[in-house]
Amino acid sequence: MSVRKNLLLLAAGTSVVAATTCNPLTSTSCSADTALAGSFAEDFTSASSYFTDEKMPGTIEYSSDGLAMTLTEQGDNPTLTSNFYIMYGKVEVMMKAAPGTGIVSSFFLQSDDLDELDIEWVGSDDTQFQSNYFSKGDTTTYDRGEFHTVSEPETTFHNYTLEWAMDKTTWYLDGTAVRVLENTTSEGYPQSPMYLKMGIWAGGDPSNSEGTIEWAGGLTDYSQAPFTMYISKVIVTDYSTGSEYSYGDQSGSWESIQCKDGEINGRYQQALMDFAELTNGGTVSNSTTTSTTSSSSAVASSSSTSEIVSSEVTSSSTKATTSSTKATTTSTKATTTSTEATTTSTKAATTSTKAATTSSSSKVSTVSPTTVENSSSLEATKSTASVSQTSSSQAVKVASDMANGITASFGLAALPLLLLSLL
Ligand SMILES: *[C@@H]1O[C@H](CO)[C@@H](O)[C@H](O)[C@H]1NC(C)=O
Ligand SMILES: *[C@@H]1O[C@H](CO)[C@@H](O)[C@H](O)[C@H]1NC(C)=O
Ligand SMILES: *[C@@H]1O[C@H](CO)[C@@H](O)[C@H](O)[C@H]1NC(C)=O
Ligand SMILES: *[C@@H]1O[C@H](CO)[C@@H](O)[C@H](O)[C@H]1NC(C)=O
Repeated sequence: MSVRKNLLLLAAGTSVVAATTCNPLTSTSCSADTALAGSFAEDFTSASSYFTDEKMPGTIEYSSDGLAMTLTEQGDNPTLTSNFYIMYGKVEVMMKAAPGTGIVSSFFLQSDDLDELDIEWVGSDDTQFQSNYFSKGDTTTYDRGEFHTVSEPETTFHNYTLEWAMDKTTWYLDGTAVRVLENTTSEGYPQSPMYLKMGIWAGGDPSNSEGTIEWAGGLTDYSQAPFTMYISKVIVTDYSTGSEYSYGDQSGSWESIQCKDGEINGRYQQALMDFAELTNGGTVSNSTTTSTTSSSSAVASSSSTSEIVSSEVTSSSTKATTSSTKATTTSTKATTTSTEATTTSTKAATTSTKAATTSSSSKVSTVSPTTVENSSSLEATKSTASVSQTSSSQAVKVASDMANGITASFGLAALPLLLLSLL
């Protein structure tokens, strides 16, 4: 695996040698992950200090309406990545997916050891979105994806929420739980610090295999471009505290994750209050963050990446207003919400059972990994070799989806190398 990985790294050039491509399960020298250890809402009226433009081909624009990510021609794959990690938490996106056959909009959480929680939209399908997850880059089976009904996601903003907790993860659509993943799942549960990523890519590019093109809903018709996905707001709250999250060993288990000057789930209650406040359009004070003092000095003395985050955080803290009265109100509301949540989660259990029944259908089994992510694609090559030994059509789809990931993230030039590395 490492040989293939190296080939791909060489093919992609120096830009790939970023902290996020160091897999803590295979290397003991990965740098620690900058922790959010707080909460924020971002409306993208201008470039956000919380996210980095990956400078992939394509267009990223900010306006009073929020973020617009546009694919105009072959090879475009505009991508934003958070410059922080969360260790359990809630993430909400107000999103309008891109239309267009063969166009995929995506929003996901991913960790350095390739745990993943995904939300994806295929442009030819204006009635559904897909939820998916991966554990430690294991792509040997493709039965994790599920489809969920949503009304006109390409013309209407909807509220998609991911509640990633230690015991379970819940996907919500407009406040209703549509899927619950218990941490007892036999396929592995995401349990390592995750960053956020969002972008748009052409799954239906003619250079992709039939399987990928089919999954993406057909060939991309570039004459219909531009294709744009919109995000009017992202709300994030981290359940944990500390300045940095790191891997104490190579197990990838949550017990091995270390929070510098903090603890896992150290601000859980605060996070829930922050989230309720932020979804109400309010603001939260960063001063209530348990680890404020220790983390600010720790951030300042660490690596250059952290320093960038640190200065950006300063400007956003200045913007933040203290609202203790509001917080009290929120707290009362939060209690109500949590009763509601219990009801919802019972409903969700039913939904999830139903979903489990339908997920054996062939339709669901073709869901791809989130292929806009480099490291996911890299890891994907590992299993492509074994998967492609079987001749089932699904294996072909799987392999091609992975190849597409490489194409989308590294440009077409990397594809021959991928194929070479599989020989
Ligand atoms: C993804 O690839 C691009 C281009 O090769 C690179 O700039 C970026 O840092 C990579 N992102 C990650 C998370 O590895
Ligand atoms: C809150 O402040 C601390 C200390 O400055 C910082 O480490 C953290 O990232 C901040 N959180 C947010 C959400 O701004
Ligand atoms: C599942 O959650 C419980 C706490 O509710 C925790 O004790 C256990 O270690 C978790 N297991 C995994 C695999 O995350
Ligand atoms: C979106 O859904 C979440 C989860 O149900 C909810 O808590 C939140 O208030 C909703 N946000 C908005 C802006 O309605």
